[in-house]
Amino acid sequence: MLQLSFALSRHVLLRKRILASCKRPAAFMSTLLINQPQYAWLKDLGLKEENEGVYNGIWGGRGELVTTYCPANDEPIASVRQASLEDYEETIKKAKEAWKIWADVPAPKRGEIVRQIGDALRKKIKDLGSLVSLEMGKIFVEGVGEVQEYVDVCDYAVGLSRMIGGPVLPSERPGHALIEQWNPVGLVGIITAFNFPVAVYGWNNAIAMICGNACLWKGAPTTSLISVAVTKIVAKVLEDNKVPGAVCSLICGGADIGTAMARDERVDLLSFTGSTKVGKQVALMVQERFGRSLLELGGNNAIVVFEDADLNLVIPSALFAAVGTAGQRCTSARRLFLHESIHDEVVEKLAKAYAQVRIGDPWDSTTLYGPLHTKQAVMMFLDAVEQAEQQGGSVVYGGKVLNRPGNYVEPTIVTGLPHNASIVHTETFAPILYVLKFKTEEEVFAWNNEVKQGLSSSIFTKDLGRIFRWLGPKGSDCGVVNVNIPTSGAEIGGAFGGEKHTGGGRESGSDSWKLYMRRSTCTINYSKDLPLAQGIKFQ
Ligand code: UN1
Repeated sequence: MLQLSFALSRHVLLRKRILASCKRPAAFMSTLLINQPQYAWLKDLGLKEENEGVYNGIWGGRGELVTTYCPANDEPIASVRQASLEDYEETIKKAKEAWKIWADVPAPKRGEIVRQIGDALRKKIKDLGSLVSLEMGKIFVEGVGEVQEYVDVCDYAVGLSRMIGGPVLPSERPGHALIEQWNPVGLVGIITAFNFPVAVYGWNNAIAMICGNACLWKGAPTTSLISVAVTKIVAKVLEDNKVPGAVCSLICGGADIGTAMARDERVDLLSFTGSTKVGKQVALMVQERFGRSLLELGGNNAIVVFEDADLNLVIPSALFAAVGTAGQRCTSARRLFLHESIHDEVVEKLAKAYAQVRIGDPWDSTTLYGPLHTKQAVMMFLDAVEQAEQQGGSVVYGGKVLNRPGNYVEPTIVTGLPHNASIVHTETFAPILYVLKFKTEEEVFAWNNEVKQGLSSSIFTKDLGRIFRWLGPKGSDCGVVNVNIPTSGAEIGGAFGGEKHTGGGRESGSDSWKLYMRRSTCTINYSKDLPLAQGIKFQ
């Protein structure tokens, strides 16, 4: 008891210290990282001390000046002038005008522009990856990896630009043709989250563009420099090709701009990535106007390890899924179900693997694990660890904030909780893995599905029957259903998204393009008679 109250007061003190450090002093130009020689490459991305956060063919912005900070050292990087509501109004009008021109460009020619965007990104992949590390805080290879996703989806979209189309169906009437015509929806609003500040925009942007839509992007305010740097690359390609820049408009801003987009009938599709809580508000606002939304919300992803699993695959998979990106992917593993016969062995091996993880500056090529994105995330981490302990869990690895500048916390393993503990059913965007014991396939499949979210899931087994039961109607109810690989790290070629409170959206590959278009069922009579469907005679 004494120990518990000591631990609690230690948490309270820590929280006060973190809260105090959230109040940032005004950043002076001279202290900005962009002015220091080792960050000179930021200028190669076209960034300055103070950047304009609105692009609609020309750059501007009359809103608040937001400075972004490096999560690894708390230093200010540079500032971005956000959009005012007047900027929003002006930009949306320009995007709608630009659409009229873009929609008339043949799809394969649109694909050619997207191909050039992919090439321009290729040339800047290292600098952009470094900026992702510096501003978001993920490690360099993951920063480069998400620019790679944008490059790859551009390639994918180029091919698609010659393939999208509808079937010609057999008509029941003589001399009639029944065809499907797909048209762009018009303007696609894209609201992205801090954790994938390049890739998620890329998936939406490349596909939306080849479908013939204009895009209006609002990234997270804390990754505004990335939004500006990406848009500079895209804008140059558009301008070089004499395509109106407003086809890929940028509107940096906060909740006021997001709300304006959700309520605006001129936004024909709103793609939103973020928390389930905010996603629900967005969905209701869009639904209120019978608009279309594409939602990529929270996950509470499980890895299930059966007694026959190859542990040489399990340990690195669980490590990557739970610790990679410091647990800040929607697809991060949060629950690890271990068959009771291998529980202790796997926990021991995993804790050993955790101890090998090199913690450091995210841009250092040897680092595997960087900081959380914000101080608020550190607080949420501490709260979750505290709740896990209160609900009967034991922290067998980590659990603490690291004593160094930046938002570093220890990757954490908690054992001993019941599968239905409320903290286990809560998505905390931090590197906390709840390890849970199970006995039978039936119970563990049910436990995989019992959470509200339905994004990603994996099993580890060699049993063929079990694999197909997992993929089938009584198996995983998630949008991403894996076997012998981690929950995170999806390829762009598949449709990405999840069910239930994850929102139901699908982005990127497969036939996700259909969400960016509207389908017309067209019946054309090329005869001289007028036979009615269902054989009806009306005379
Ligand atoms: C997200 O976390 O929002 O599957 C997206 C993955 C990545 C995308 C995650 N390709 O982990």
